[in-house]
Amino acid sequence: MPIHPAASSSNVPALASATPVAVIGAGTMGSGIALVAARAGHPVLLHDAAPEAIRRGLDSVARLLDGQVKRGRLTAAERDAQLSRISPASDLDAIAPAGLVVEAIVEDLDVKAGLFGRIAALVGAETILATNTSSLSVTALAARLPHPGRVVGMHFFNPAPALPLVEVVSGALTRPEIAAAVAATARAWGKVAVHCRSTPGFIVNRVARPFYGEALRLLGEGAADAATLDAVLRETGGFRMGAFELMDLIGHDVNFAVTRSVYDAFFQDPRYRPSLVQKELVDAGLLGRKSGRGFFDYAKGTEKPAPAEAPPGPRPARIAVAGDLGPASVLADLARGAGIAVDTGPGPGVIRLEAGIVALTDGRMAAEWAAAEGMPAALFDLALDYAAAPRMAVAGSDPAVRVAAAGLFQALGKAVSVLDDPPGLAVMRTVAMLANEAADAVQQRIASAADIDVSMVKGVNYPRGPLAWADDIGLHRLATVIANLGRFYGEDRYRVAPLLRRMALAGRRFHGEGA
Ligand code: NAI
Repeated sequence: MPIHPAASSSNVPALASATPVAVIGAGTMGSGIALVAARAGHPVLLHDAAPEAIRRGLDSVARLLDGQVKRGRLTAAERDAQLSRISPASDLDAIAPAGLVVEAIVEDLDVKAGLFGRIAALVGAETILATNTSSLSVTALAARLPHPGRVVGMHFFNPAPALPLVEVVSGALTRPEIAAAVAATARAWGKVAVHCRSTPGFIVNRVARPFYGEALRLLGEGAADAATLDAVLRETGGFRMGAFELMDLIGHDVNFAVTRSVYDAFFQDPRYRPSLVQKELVDAGLLGRKSGRGFFDYAKGTEKPAPAEAPPGPRPARIAVAGDLGPASVLADLARGAGIAVDTGPGPGVIRLEAGIVALTDGRMAAEWAAAEGMPAALFDLALDYAAAPRMAVAGSDPAVRVAAAGLFQALGKAVSVLDDPPGLAVMRTVAMLANEAADAVQQRIASAADIDVSMVKGVNYPRGPLAWADDIGLHRLATVIANLGRFYGEDRYRVAPLLRRMALAGRRFHGEGA
């Protein structure tokens, strides 16, 4: 069973740098895209319906380049050359010579189709029409235009001059060589280009949904407060930012709107269901950093709340590792390194302490483990790197085993945050759902496993691609986590992606040997 690449990059060359590029819409994205093309040597024609917007766009490009000159990253001559390549085109007719048109106007299908309709009458039939839309259907846009095969998505991330990822989006009618030419051009512009098919959210905005969704569920269910969950995602999961501080940065209006649009576009699939917790913030105008308050308060002089931390527990003198701890196997060595005697033997993959068993979460509550094993149980979370992680999240079926588990991880030099026994804890649940989403996208031929992983690392700074991470955790283990979550909640949201289940059963991996 081959894992299908969304489009082959083949040997189609990039557009020559002498090819004029027209950018329509000189706002946040358009001005940045104009700079990216000019930097690569293209003559750029910048058009906007509002003439003052073109001036503002050019000013913002000039300011950005001035900053780079000041920091010694660019010479004054290079700045002048880049700026001189961008010409204002107050009249749309002036873009006629363009070989590539990238639009970054208002996010409205009718308005974009109207604009491209006018442009199609001005330019040659081979001129590529690219849209920077982040949520509209490239297929639907193309279908309304003559020569729909040359219409493609070219989705940059904000700020376009700095962020490396470009999603090249093929609609149902897009010719493969057009997508390949746009990808090659994006690469020539210094970007990392990935291919995907036109579906809601494309790659990044779709696969990232569980990062926010699971955090909001955990908060809504009272697993821990936002600061604690953020600290666990950062310090245990290795994510650059926690979900709550990231949503505060993005803005809850924007983040909520993206979630709603993906949810509606998937016909209300519960996997993408928006959160009432976030809707409350939007309704209250608590939009995050830009409004001064979201989950956290950004007023001057306000300190960010500290994550909850377990008080020091007893340091164990001896532990027994019974069976294979899977991705947490290194804990045995870490314990030895911390001067704890470690006995090893067969078993179900648990650590035995006097107070009970301690195990990596498998998507069941600690209380369920305790009932199944007939003894107190504590669970710990998935870590990106158990040796390096400065924090560990634990949950326990009773206070004594919680304290004992905290004592074990504290002896390994980690701060411990106790969660209120949410199934799957925080990092495991998040990574499992990210990988599940990514696996579905692979199966639906939205993009290749490699392109999805690259997108999540380059587009949203994840410490690992979710599918490579899934390979390392073990697909069977991951599918079990999701199945257990599904059993616990009885919700369709937590259904195992068919491809993940199939590959787990076949003992296959998304990357490398066995892929
Ligand atoms: P913006 O509001 O900063 O700029 C849009 C510009 O388009 C304005 O200057 C406006 O005058 C102009 N405009 C509107 N209708 C026009 C028309 N019919 N003809 C010519 N110009 C017109 O918007 P922003 O943030 O730059 O977004 C532009 C597009 O990029 C949208 O489709 C958006 O979804 C997409 N996008 C935005 C990202 C972001 O983070 N802001 C990220 C990736 C994509």
